[in-house]
Amino acid sequence: MIDVRVLKKLCPTYSFLHLDTIDSTNEYLKSRLDLFEKTIVIAEGQTQGKGRNGRSFYSPKGCGIYMSLLIKPQNDPNTIFDLTGITALSALKAIQTVYGITPSIKWLNDLMVQDQKIAGILCESLFFGNQMKAMILGIGINVHSFKKPLDIASIAASIEDFVPIKKPRSILIAKFLHSFDDYLAAPDKALEDYRKHLAYVNQKVYIHQQGQTRSGIVRGIDDHFHLLIENSQGQSESLVSAEISIRP
Ligand code: BTN
Repeated sequence: MIDVRVLKKLCPTYSFLHLDTIDSTNEYLKSRLDLFEKTIVIAEGQTQGKGRNGRSFYSPKGCGIYMSLLIKPQNDPNTIFDLTGITALSALKAIQTVYGITPSIKWLNDLMVQDQKIAGILCESLFFGNQMKAMILGIGINVHSFKKPLDIASIAASIEDFVPIKKPRSILIAKFLHSFDDYLAAPDKALEDYRKHLAYVNQKVYIHQQGQTRSGIVRGIDDHFHLLIENSQGQSESLVSAEISIRP
């Protein structure tokens, strides 16, 4: 069990709601927008964990961190992108500090170790008319080793598959929140660090967008975490939403 008393002590500016098993912590928060900003819903397991682009996020009980953070921002259309990048980077820093391994970031928000995904981020924004009402930052980290279902066995892994030391998940969450606060206060540092850890720089990747696939070379990110690629005509493009992969 995640020790929420430890979290309350180490992260006093956040509120925590600890649930046993739920469909999805993102979905739960959507129905609880009455909660204070900086409330975090943590579940021990999820039955319908959600990933990006309609995919699911396998969330076996007691094996990972499945949590969502409620933010009530000013209406700034760039914020969702910046926050998604900062969230991925903060998870990376927490893993680096607690376990001593450094994942890379597969744009925009997957954390990879030896080309296997150990964490993903799903940020959702909720609008009231054209006014952004809330943002939900969903973070999923595979921490303890577990038997992976066949469909994800070759693409997903847990931190402890690489570093077989058991660490309390509460400490990983606390480190994540400390990094998150630090990066929010220093966005330039976030961009600098994100660039250091971006995967596939100067490598050929496949770009999947609106049902189509093409290739390009990753050149970096711009100042809003948009991916900069060089397309097959040698022109520079900035991608706002797409999936990239090293295999077609
Ligand atoms: C992805 O891999 O595309 C994103 C995965 C995000 C998973 C987290 S787990 C906590 C939160 N609740 C969800 O249903 N999804 C996110």
